[in-house]
Amino acid sequence: MNDERTLVITGGAGFIGSHVVRLFVNKYPQYRIINLDKLTYAGNLENLKDIEDKPNYRFVRMDICDFEGVLKLMQEEQVDGIIHLAAESHVDRSIKDPFTFAQTNVMGTLSLLQAAKVYWESLPEKFDGKRFYHISTDEVYGALEMTHPEGIEPPFTTKASSGEHHLAYGEKFFTEDLKYQPHSPYSAAKASSDHFVRAFHDTYGLPTIVTNCSNNYGPYQFPEKLIPLFINNIRHRKPLPVYGKGENVRDWLYVEDHARAIDVIFHKGQVAETYNIGGFNEWKNIDIIKVLINTVDRILGRPEGADMDLITYVTDRAGHDLRYAIDSSKLQKELGWEPSLQFEEGIEKTVRWYLDNQTWLDNVTSGDYQKYYEQMYAGR
Ligand code: NAD
Ligand code: DAU
Repeated sequence: MNDERTLVITGGAGFIGSHVVRLFVNKYPQYRIINLDKLTYAGNLENLKDIEDKPNYRFVRMDICDFEGVLKLMQEEQVDGIIHLAAESHVDRSIKDPFTFAQTNVMGTLSLLQAAKVYWESLPEKFDGKRFYHISTDEVYGALEMTHPEGIEPPFTTKASSGEHHLAYGEKFFTEDLKYQPHSPYSAAKASSDHFVRAFHDTYGLPTIVTNCSNNYGPYQFPEKLIPLFINNIRHRKPLPVYGKGENVRDWLYVEDHARAIDVIFHKGQVAETYNIGGFNEWKNIDIIKVLINTVDRILGRPEGADMDLITYVTDRAGHDLRYAIDSSKLQKELGWEPSLQFEEGIEKTVRWYLDNQTWLDNVTSGDYQKYYEQMYAGR
């Protein structure tokens, strides 16, 4: 599958999508990479400044719900693969506005599936050599219990998670065969889209793959999510709103490691399979927040821990899932992927990136980044 190909990557102007687009554009000059993105508040073409002039890259501003538009694009560009990341992605927003999440995540995915089916079925070779790869989340599995609040050694190790914080907070992990039990409107919408993807394989034979990944962190994440929001607040000595007691556990993966997993799975994964992606790297929110405070303070030359008093416990998120922990051993054993970074290294890189890119943060929080599109792309 390393010949010439034309791929659509949806949501390529967002956080994870921009890393995936960059990886594919740079690694596969023989591919044509079309970044299809609506540019919602979360989509920012400044994330891709370094590759926007590459000859194998094209940006198309389009809503994935626009079935006719997507179908026409697929026909004109003779698209033979889709990597689908576009989504509404923030749980807190889904609690306030569930309709938008159902529209984009469910109807948008359905529109892409149907466009791929209609176009590929019209070709002499039909689905041969085609691939529809849907990027989903571990949140569809619901929440795990925290049976070991002090942490235990997990059953697996990986290069990136063998540091001193490599602990698990329970014996159970999310495995690919677990029943879906989404709790938030966001995860319910993602779960629904996963079901549609599998239904298109089972009903029509569409060559689909689904992956479910744990929490990502790294550069270009919209600063409404825990890590970039808190780095920015610590820098500006603003309160850090910790939901509940800060005891919830998330399993963190550096975003470039997710992008590398997507590359491996797109090329080597088995059609109709599901792969979980994660680095066996569980952290209680409060512990990660303390690491962020210490790291920012050290880099800015403040006395270590000087900003601990910014921690402010606030009302918990409604339906807040207690613990996520991914078992990615299937992906590691079958396809040989493993994360490349120790968490300490990834966090250091991430904190430094946000501290060095205050203009990016200011632009996305003020909405000014939309001007970049108007200057660079409108009318193209
Ligand atoms: P993001 O919110 O940063 O980016 C989403 C992108 O999708 C934006 O560029 C936005 O403009 C685009 N988009 C939104 N609605 C659209 C529409 N109707 N049509 C076209 N484009 C649209 O999201 P992210 O954090 O990069 O997540 C990307 C994908 O990965 C999502 O599907 C998410 O569910 C999944 N995921 C995220 C994480 C994580 O930790 N962030 C973990 C696992 C899975
Ligand atoms: O697990 C994968 C998911 O990770 C992705 O599917 C989602 O798209 C992504 O947003 C992320 O969801 P979370 O809800 O886990 O991420 P968030 O950064 O919003 O929150 C991480 C944890 O921090 C969570 O337990 C809630 C808590 N939190 C978050 C914010 C924004 C706080 O305590 N205070 C905050 O202000």
